[in-house]
Parts: sequence; C-alpha cells; structure tokens
Amino acid sequence: MGGGIAQVVAGSGRRVSLYDPYPGATDRGLAAMRKSLARLAEKGGGDPDEVLGRVGPVEDLVAADLMIEAVVEDASVKEDVFRRADAALPAEAILASNTSSIPITSLAAATSRPDRVIGMHFFNPVPVLKLVEVIRGLETSDETAAAIAGLAGELGKTPAEARDFPGFVSNRILMPFINEAVWALMEGVAEPEAIDTIATLGFAHPMGPLALADLIGLDTCVAIMEVLHAGLGSDRYAPCPLLRQYVQAGRLGRKSGRGFYEYR
Ligand code: CAA
Repeated sequence: MGGGIAQVVAGSGRRVSLYDPYPGATDRGLAAMRKSLARLAEKGGGDPDEVLGRVGPVEDLVAADLMIEAVVEDASVKEDVFRRADAALPAEAILASNTSSIPITSLAAATSRPDRVIGMHFFNPVPVLKLVEVIRGLETSDETAAAIAGLAGELGKTPAEARDFPGFVSNRILMPFINEAVWALMEGVAEPEAIDTIATLGFAHPMGPLALADLIGLDTCVAIMEVLHAGLGSDRYAPCPLLRQYVQAGRLGRKSGRGFYEYR
C-alpha cells in the first residue's frame, strides 16, 4: 500500500521520499506505481514519468512535513518507526499511520508529539478507492485532524472520521464479514467461487470476501482479527482456524501467488 499512497501523494504535485529498509521493497513499490500510472495514463491520466519524477527512494527516514507509515500490522514494529520518525522529522511535522487496526493512541505515545499523530487509512487499490478513514488518537489535535482531512480531499479522496477503537469503523465491519466467509468455507457450506458469487451478485460488492481477503493479504486479515479479538474481548472475533492455517502454509493471497485462489 505504501507504493499506492506515494503514487497518489506525488500525483497531487507533492514530493515524496520512499523509505523501506527491506531489500527490494522500494523497487517493487516503484514498479507497481509505474504499472498503475500507465493504466491511468491510458484513460487520460497525467504523464507517469512526471509523477515518478517526484518520488525518490531514500536510505533512512528524512525530514519532511508529513510521514505516512505503511509497515507491517505489528504494533512493536510500528511503534519503533514512530519513535524513530519523532527523532528524524521536524517538531511541527505530522506523523500519520496507514494502520488497519493498531491503536493510534499507542503509536502517539511512542512520540513526543501525540497531538500531531493520526491515522490516515487508505484502501486497496489506493489509486482507485476514494476513502480515507481518518482516526484520531486520544490526544490528536483538531488542527492535525483538519490538516489530514484537507490533504485527503486534495488527493481526490473523501475523508471520514472514526475514533480510536479496535478496527476503527472499516475493519470492525469488514473483517468479521471476511472471517465469516472463511468459516463458511471451512464448514463446507460452499466452494470459494460460490461464496464470492453470492457476495458479488447478491450484495453488489465489486468482489467477494475471499477474493478481497486475497487482495488484502491473509496475514494482514489474521493480524486485524487478532486486534479485534484482543481489543473487543469477544470470541466472535477470533480468526477462523482455516485463515490461520493458510497463513501457516504461506498462502498469503495475491502477494504470494496463492490464497483462496491462484494468481499467475
Ligand atoms: N491502479 C490504477 N487503476 C486501477 C488499479 C490500479 N492499481 N486497479 C484497478 N484499476 C482501474 C482499472 O484500470 C479500471 O478502470 P476503468 O474502469 O476506467 O477501466 C478500474 O480500476 C476497475 O478495474 P478492473 O476493470 O481491472 O477490475 P474490476 O472492475 O474488477 O475492479 C477493483 C478491480 C478496483 C479492485 C474492484 O474489484 C474493487 O474495488 N474491489 C474491492 C476493493 C476493496 O474493497 N478494497 C478495500 C480493501 S480493505 C483495505 O484496503 C483496507 C484494510 O484495512 C484491510
């Protein structure tokens, strides 16, 4: 998602520094951006090279007006990024997280500027989906929330504000839906194709819950369910055992080539 976020921010005329210490990650992000921008250019979008010219990979966190963090859904990894960003970015900079479920308040507590820490949650594929869920931590200021909602608008997105409760609004609703679809599959209620056909044609969803889980990443789905389970304290949010088993098998969805479906 980091690549998609960098793409829409650069597309709005801003300069973006892309940082990921994992080998090859920024190259993969840039390749995905190039592909997506080419698709948009075919439909009259701007010049891909112009947008890509505003995106520069960097070797470490650098000074900027805004950080948008999009690392793995692991609280300790994210807190570490926020601690380091707090030291690297100017005091007035906003530190935002694209987290799907990690409490914004705990990321804010890892910094010396909790009033300037906020959730800026994009949706996959970022260049296409129009929502940004804006999540206020306990101490997020009105100015920070207004700045991020304003930026979302300038990126062509619609902001919607949620409070910092487990899963916020989006994943409080979406993940139990996906998890229930996996229970239906595990219990033999229907084949994956039938489950997804029922959701696409029956509820007019653009894709079914199992195909969507493959798009999001099954490891991310398990991580989000675990946050809901622990945070809301009810077993109805426990990740379905089949979802866990697919992750154990390395079937992570599109990114690994196989999840509920195969991708070539
Ligand atoms: N970049 C640019 N354009 C893209 C694109 C990308 N990465 N992906 C798709 N598009 C464009 C296509 O070019 C196409 O444009 P036109 O209609 O103008 O031709 C349009 O989007 C639709 O794409 P496709 O025709 O390829 O396929 P589709 O109609 O099946 O749509 C989809 C694909 C946009 C992914 C659609 O199925 C969809 O919206 N699915 C639901 C996605 C969703 O629910 N995402 C949220 C996941 S939750 C999340 O991200 C957050 C979380 O916390 C877990």
